[in-house]
Amino acid sequence: MKTLIRGGTIVTATDRYVGDVFIDGETIHSVGTQLDVEADRVVDATDKLVIPGGIDVHTHLDMPFGGTYSVDDFQTGTIAAAFGGTTTIVDFAIQERGGTLRQAFDTWRQKADGKAVIDYGFHMILSEFQESLIEEMGPLAEEGVTSFKLFMAYPGVFYMDDAGIFRAMQRSKEIGATICMHAENGPVIDVLIEQALRAGHREPKYHALTRPPRAEAEATHRALCLAEMAEVPVYIVHLSAAEALAEVTRARNRGLEAFAETCPQYLFLSYDNYEEPGFEGAKYVMSPPLRAKEKQHELWRGLKFNDLQSISTDHCPFCFNEGKQLGRDDFSKIPNGAPGIETRMSLTYDGGVTAGRISVNRWVELTSTSPAKIFGLFPRKGTIAPGSDADVVVFDPNAEQVLRAKDLHMAVDYNPYEGRRVKGVAEVVLSRGEVIIEGGQFCGKPGRGQFLPRLTRTSS
Ligand code: URP
Ligand code: ZN
Ligand code: ZN
Repeated sequence: MKTLIRGGTIVTATDRYVGDVFIDGETIHSVGTQLDVEADRVVDATDKLVIPGGIDVHTHLDMPFGGTYSVDDFQTGTIAAAFGGTTTIVDFAIQERGGTLRQAFDTWRQKADGKAVIDYGFHMILSEFQESLIEEMGPLAEEGVTSFKLFMAYPGVFYMDDAGIFRAMQRSKEIGATICMHAENGPVIDVLIEQALRAGHREPKYHALTRPPRAEAEATHRALCLAEMAEVPVYIVHLSAAEALAEVTRARNRGLEAFAETCPQYLFLSYDNYEEPGFEGAKYVMSPPLRAKEKQHELWRGLKFNDLQSISTDHCPFCFNEGKQLGRDDFSKIPNGAPGIETRMSLTYDGGVTAGRISVNRWVELTSTSPAKIFGLFPRKGTIAPGSDADVVVFDPNAEQVLRAKDLHMAVDYNPYEGRRVKGVAEVVLSRGEVIIEGGQFCGKPGRGQFLPRLTRTSS
């Protein structure tokens, strides 16, 4: 199949010009102005942006958490992603305590197999440090799982102490892998939670009040220092606090290979959402929590000046009327996480580019190119260039959409941005040359998405 996307404004992390993209099979054949080619299909992109498909490097599909599972599986979650203009995800496989990394990898491959509609890779969550990990990490990286997530939070579940973290970091350096860090001081947070519960505080807002910005900043600082000693690159996931960003900025200024992402929820929602009446605040229970509105401009500054290199979603949806109710009488039992896989591109185009906070090139860089580079997917993914996979989105910068759970495709019963009007909508979405979204319809097949082995830092 040969497809010509004609007359759109092609935007990459570096360029912006009116031109054509010619796709032959699964890859981009050529890019130019007024290409003289024979195509089986022509997509008119006049007055539209033509961008590399979005890359969301932080999702949790079909993930066990707090006695339940995130409600999007690899089918519903990747269809929703595609509707929003995302054509690649990197999800998190989880090592069970006492289990091997191989078992976790196989389990997550099975979860995705036959379901995913876009391409996907995996990070591996190391749930506890055990000596055998040292042997197990190398073969996994060779198979393309080239990043490992560690937790400084959630004692008794995912938490790893500094010695374990340091060993895993040293091993990552040896095998060319990257460490993804959930940076919150879990033991201190647990003390605050216990004290809050003893004082009779049960409402959702205490989730945020027991996870102060300094608990995130302290852990971020420690993670950066440990990574510096281990001489390994570190990527701070879901950074929410300006105080934590200041630590990343300082580390980068010192010359460390420190990277960080933030997520739309930290840019567009705030602590005020926890003050919504009744149990509504549970919709926003995630870790780290939402922060003060007055601090959001610091995250935008970080995005603009490259102290933050990526915008991902941390998509981890639990239904309000089911999963979230587990914490009806105790905020600490509310499953952590919120939906976002479908709304990332539109929210950040609207609130970033249209609002004048970042350029359109920077938007592409933050939502596609830079995550592809950090996680060993570039140049196969993350740009529009000859030889790259034909993951291309025709994006209408003028179309408007009101975000409502009932109109979106995620399997969750609420939307944190309910009623918000955004300008900028993914209109046609191609994944490896195949149109999978068009005319507001999904037209791909479950299972068409492929596992993406990612490059290590030494092979990229
Ligand atoms: O609240 C969150 N972030 N849930 C997902 C798990 C994680 O820590 O990323
Ligand atoms: Zn996390
Ligand atoms: Zn997460």
